[in-house]
Amino acid sequence: MKDFWEGQAKKFKYNVQTVNFDPLCEDLEMTFLETLIKDGDVICDVGCGNGRTLIELAKKKKNAKFYGVDFIPQMIDIANEKKNEMNLKNIFFYKSDAATENLAKLFDFKFDKIITKRLLINVKGKSKHQAIKNIHALLKENGTYIMIECFLEPLNKINKIRTELNLEEIKVKTFNEYLPFKFLDDIEDKFVIEKKIDFGSLYYFISRIFNASLSEGDPDYFSPINKLALKLTKMGVSPIEGYSPEIIILLKKIS
Ligand SMILES: C[S@@+](CC[C@H](N)C(=O)[O-])C[C@H]1O[C@@H](n2cnc3c(N)ncnc32)[C@H](O)[C@@H]1O
Repeated sequence: MKDFWEGQAKKFKYNVQTVNFDPLCEDLEMTFLETLIKDGDVICDVGCGNGRTLIELAKKKKNAKFYGVDFIPQMIDIANEKKNEMNLKNIFFYKSDAATENLAKLFDFKFDKIITKRLLINVKGKSKHQAIKNIHALLKENGTYIMIECFLEPLNKINKIRTELNLEEIKVKTFNEYLPFKFLDDIEDKFVIEKKIDFGSLYYFISRIFNASLSEGDPDYFSPINKLALKLTKMGVSPIEGYSPEIIILLKKIS
């Protein structure tokens, strides 16, 4: 799996494709994420990749402080290069593994908010709980964990429809483990769910079912129908729920 992320960093550098195959979905995710960050917050992105998420946020929230951690040195190099090029003084990047105890020792202060964007799905089996323990330890009392991860049940719903339409099932990469919703029950001694934001159902339904059915060959992530799905969702039109594997979950720390 480390080979995969090193390859992505080498191939796409600071481009969005380093961290997300679907740039429009990334755009949508960022639109929602931005609304959750206050100027003045101290924030950590665990599994920050090439730093794009934090750099985009830092451009807009000048009085917030951003810290990024990733275990791929090439990702951290790209992030530092970009931050220096843009002369951003409120971001700091570190190399560390989210799934070892070292992460919790990396900082001698606590965060208002911690983000993971598709980090936990990269962490195998029980190590996920070490990552969760670290996030809990690094948050201030009442701090918020902004979990943006992929869940199995919505993917299964999409795949059921795709199968009925004779489309191939969307396969999860071999090194990824999508979370079952039950995972949220397993961490309820540490976090209470404040809000679930199903930000992508309309987008996923249109792009993975409509666009896939209407396309000949491989569907284009930038197709007009996907752009329409993005626009409608940003306009607040979202008549469909339960079809987005990616969900934003706001989890409040409990001691
Ligand atoms: C899908 S990318 C997301 C990057 C970033 N959060 C974003 O959305 O722009 C996942 C990142 O997690 C990193 N990662 C995976 N497992 C990790 C671990 N155990 N510790 C630290 N980083 C990890 C990978 O190197 C990769 O950069």
